[in-house]
Amino acid sequence: MHIGLDLGTSSLIAVLCEDGVPRARAMRPLSTASPHPYWSEQQPEDWWQAALSALDELLAPLGPGGRAGVRAIGLSGQMHGAVLLNDAGRVLRPAMLWNDGRAHAECAALTRALPEIGMIAGVPPLPGLTAPKFPWLARHEPHILGAVRHVLMPKDYLGHRLHGGHVSDPSDAAGTLLFDQAGRCWSDALCAAAGVDPAWLPALRHGHEVAGGLSGTVARRLGLPEGLPVVTGGGDTATGAVSVGAIEDGAAFLSLGTSGQVFLAGDRYRPNPERLVHAFAHTLPARWYQMAAMLNGARPMAWFAGVAGSDIAPLLAEAETVPPDRVPLFLPYLTGERTPHGDPHIRGAFYGLEDGTGRAAMMRAVVEAVAFCFADAFDSLDGGAGIAGPIPAIGGGTRSDFLLRTIADVTGHAIGRASGATAGPSIGAAKLAALATGDLSRGDIARRPVPGKVFEPRSAPVLGARLQRWRALYAALKPLTEGGA
Ligand code: XUL
Repeated sequence: MHIGLDLGTSSLIAVLCEDGVPRARAMRPLSTASPHPYWSEQQPEDWWQAALSALDELLAPLGPGGRAGVRAIGLSGQMHGAVLLNDAGRVLRPAMLWNDGRAHAECAALTRALPEIGMIAGVPPLPGLTAPKFPWLARHEPHILGAVRHVLMPKDYLGHRLHGGHVSDPSDAAGTLLFDQAGRCWSDALCAAAGVDPAWLPALRHGHEVAGGLSGTVARRLGLPEGLPVVTGGGDTATGAVSVGAIEDGAAFLSLGTSGQVFLAGDRYRPNPERLVHAFAHTLPARWYQMAAMLNGARPMAWFAGVAGSDIAPLLAEAETVPPDRVPLFLPYLTGERTPHGDPHIRGAFYGLEDGTGRAAMMRAVVEAVAFCFADAFDSLDGGAGIAGPIPAIGGGTRSDFLLRTIADVTGHAIGRASGATAGPSIGAAKLAALATGDLSRGDIARRPVPGKVFEPRSAPVLGARLQRWRALYAALKPLTEGGA
């Protein structure tokens, strides 16, 4: 058996898998703080406590004998965040996350310093990525920057607590804007531009290589063997890909978590920075991927349900029955947007509210908006030409048939709900652990599981017309934002 740990943004998920098939899972919610506009932060200690408590729950039914059957722990996590440690290993400040937009001015400066940055790093400077956070620290928190001795990505901080080392993998390194995607190594030029000492950065191993052995203290705390392999794992897009076998050239999937992605695996580095496509190293050797990355995947649905004081499922059921001709338009950019706009300033908006508009029609607008973002995502990837359907979908948003059907209708692609869809990256992490111990082969990992329910696209001319108006709404509102003024 193998454990997969996925440090998401809204929750941490731990799964226990047998040959990559989940047998048990435990989840702990996580909260995000935004103490100032644009900021998005979490406390690394909260991640660690969530991991310990989820592992306790996962392991409790096993008893000491069953625990001896655990062969390795694999890791996965939200990308692009910065965990800063001093020389004693102490966390210096809350982690600045992937959807933190504070470093927008620093992005322009990075592009001026190194105009070819997008071709090396696989994506132009965008504020949520790791590198721009450092010039921001230099300007606003120089005392913190002065004490930094180690920089870790979120899952690698969990790894550090488990095995004591400083280790990352190519897929998480890829999201830092400090990594040479073609050479698959840290880039001195990018580090120099961002003011990062390369000595702060973790050692790199592939996602299926062992990062270290479980430390004695943690092993005793969890009742697991000391030295149990902790497998490096990957960023959550790469582990999500592993969960659905998206490894070989042309294999795609779609993720509907707090963030949203359309992911296309490849055997070459194919940069396309002009379209804000992210071209990143995969977690396994000699593989890369292209990705349209949206900051606001399925999160706006949970957000609006919270505003309306309802659970998501009953509100979605109400939304599905609303007459589609009296639905407002909604811009879902609660934390700005990456692909296709690269716009940290835009925010959410409803347009077309009437006296009679109720929460059901507003929720329907939110669902449509999430689907419209995927239309934009496929557009950035040449319309998804050559992607074979049905495209597997993972993430919490896949619980909704209504959303998956709307995405299929709007994008024209058949979408299939992947098995274990809501725990995708944690299953991918467990599969990487199984590859490390030799219990699964690379061929097993690349096999594409048959999706559960498939949603075939229906022709939806009403939605097509609304998509055009929705795109025009963004263009109309952009000049009103802080950055557009
Ligand atoms: C990918 C991305 C998200 C985060 C949070 O570019 O920003 O996948 O890792 O899930």
